[in-house]
Amino acid sequence: MSWQPCPSRPVPVNSRVESHIRSGSRRELERRKPILSSLVDFELARAAEILARDLVRVKPGEHVLIYADSESEWNVAEATARAAHNAGAKVALMRYPAPRGVGEEADEDLPGPLSAAMSNCDLMIEFSKMYLLYSTPWRLAMQRKRARYLCLSGMTSDMMTRCIGGINVEALIKFQDRIADLTRSAKAMRVTTPAGTDMEFENDPKRPVFTEGVVADRPGDYMLIGQVDWAPIEKTLNGKIVFDGSVWPPDDLGRLASPIILTVEDGKVVRIDGGREARTLARWLDGFNDPAMHNVAHIAYGCNPGAKLSGRIVEDERVWGAVEWGLGYQGETFLGVAGPAKTHTDGICLNASIWMDGKQIASEGTYIHPDLASLGKLAARR
Ligand SMILES: [Fe+2]
Repeated sequence: MSWQPCPSRPVPVNSRVESHIRSGSRRELERRKPILSSLVDFELARAAEILARDLVRVKPGEHVLIYADSESEWNVAEATARAAHNAGAKVALMRYPAPRGVGEEADEDLPGPLSAAMSNCDLMIEFSKMYLLYSTPWRLAMQRKRARYLCLSGMTSDMMTRCIGGINVEALIKFQDRIADLTRSAKAMRVTTPAGTDMEFENDPKRPVFTEGVVADRPGDYMLIGQVDWAPIEKTLNGKIVFDGSVWPPDDLGRLASPIILTVEDGKVVRIDGGREARTLARWLDGFNDPAMHNVAHIAYGCNPGAKLSGRIVEDERVWGAVEWGLGYQGETFLGVAGPAKTHTDGICLNASIWMDGKQIASEGTYIHPDLASLGKLAARR
């Protein structure tokens, strides 16, 4: 990946602030820099406040664990801890060396105190780049059915300002609810993209369609707002998936230079074609010696108006009009039949066209269903 976060790097500034900086003379720039840095801090603080209040809904007195690894940006974890503390929670903020892998691959590198804390909190917010979702300590913690878990793996100040602070949360929640309702009531689905994705599959009305972002009162795992995901009936998944946005992990992928073409039969990836990046993904999947790593685990709509393709999967999978496919580990909450695998990866297909029972709801990345079109416009305005 091109993104190499480092705790000592200055806080990334958003493009608006950058243009302010560029417009000034050197002396002016020196004079204004502290003020502009404060502005970034204000914007981050505002996003953290929205996160704590409207998304994770922190309650006074509850035990909150916030953790980040050494490859993730510390500022976002700190700002979130401050917001949770201000909301009256009892907050612990932990940092540890980044493990060598994600999911179960992280197990042997994790410090015991972190595992213990994960099993003893009401709310945990993950900022680690090498995410612990699906790791053994994470599974043990979730089995206790106490914690709400929010995965914000790889989050940066800039991303948090755009994807949380810069959107109309209320309208986006309505957009997500509407597209989830439409998906729940649809049986036959088709998804295509200009790059060549052409997948057909069926939905099981008994399986949940998750609208991410709002960490409700019930324990469970939640993701950043701007994604709606579910597990279709595995054996009905057939066609071609063409990743043309990004894929991560493995760590040496990220934003793609050339497409990766996956042939899917009965819910399993049976062939991978393309260039160097396709060979990297194929080698990585084969390297686990786990047939379940070739399972198609889920699909998701990307629907955060603030997200842009950046090479960071947490943001890329939310790019407006994109569709994401997950391979490998399938979380229990999907109620699918693919089940566990050694780990999990996600790939992004840009500018999706979507049909539900023959009716088109999105055309090359634009939602054309009337309700979705109007809610989408509102969601993009703060
Ligand atoms: Fe996934």
